[in-house]
Amino acid sequence: MDTWLIFFIIVTIYALVITILYFLRITRIPRKRKRVKSIPRELFIEVERINGDLDSFRSAIIEKSLIGIILGRRGSGKTALALRIAEALRGKKKIYAMGISNAPRWIKIIDNIDKAQPDSLLIVDEGAILLGARASMKELNKKFSNLMAISRHRDLSLLIITQNSAMLEVNTLRLADYLLIKKPSLLQSEMERPQIKRIIGKADKAIPDEDFPKYCYIISDYYEGLVKTSLPGFWSEKISKSMKHTKNI
Ligand SMILES: Nc1ncnc2c1ncn2[C@@H]1O[C@H](COP(=O)(O)OP(=O)(O)OP(=O)(O)O)[C@@H](O)[C@H]1O
Ligand SMILES: [Mg+2]
Repeated sequence: MDTWLIFFIIVTIYALVITILYFLRITRIPRKRKRVKSIPRELFIEVERINGDLDSFRSAIIEKSLIGIILGRRGSGKTALALRIAEALRGKKKIYAMGISNAPRWIKIIDNIDKAQPDSLLIVDEGAILLGARASMKELNKKFSNLMAISRHRDLSLLIITQNSAMLEVNTLRLADYLLIKKPSLLQSEMERPQIKRIIGKADKAIPDEDFPKYCYIISDYYEGLVKTSLPGFWSEKISKSMKHTKNI
């Protein structure tokens, strides 16, 4: 009888242990290590904060599909800035470009927005559109808004580079999630329409006259302020001059 009792107790304990182990195994929440995507903090070095939080702007650039416009005079560092952002997003998003040449291979040069996969970044230098069409301002503006509409639809991040904000109607500018304003030209600040003149004027005032290609004025829902940026590691003056050789598209 005693033997049976001991046997019974052992079996019960064994069953209990197995049940507990089984229960623990199926109820344990699998701890997947979440890969946190982040942008190097040194991408934008804050010089003067007007509003918001630079970190949330940095995160939004990587986590969301945003449309940005880089505005500025000739030689103000627009292409360099777009490629610096691309460099910071390398490995986190696929990078495509239209209207840029001599860029490293991981930036895929395409001639049509349809070739860009969703959840990637597409940089469009305005020359890509300008050279291809002897179009009126109105037509160019339409091209810009089409690009934006397609990007939204396809979940693409878009970065449009333009020298001349006159190309952009106020309504098209409103479609953008953020503006990166580089040093404007004299005429740009003087001759703009009132709504744009105000923001360009603010940026112009904030950006120093010396070393202006290093500065950029950010306007977005997340942040407004003046920041400094560096050149991309792979930068060469060949890229800066590459527009002259861009094919018509
Ligand atoms: N962050 C920076 N720091 C130092 N130099 C810079 C920076 N950004 C741009 N530059 C310099 O400024 C010059 C113009 O740069 P970039 O070609 O990017 O200007 P851009 O606005 O694209 O000109 P364009 O209107 O002719 O296309 C280049 O010689 C580049 O090396
Ligand atoms: Mg350029």
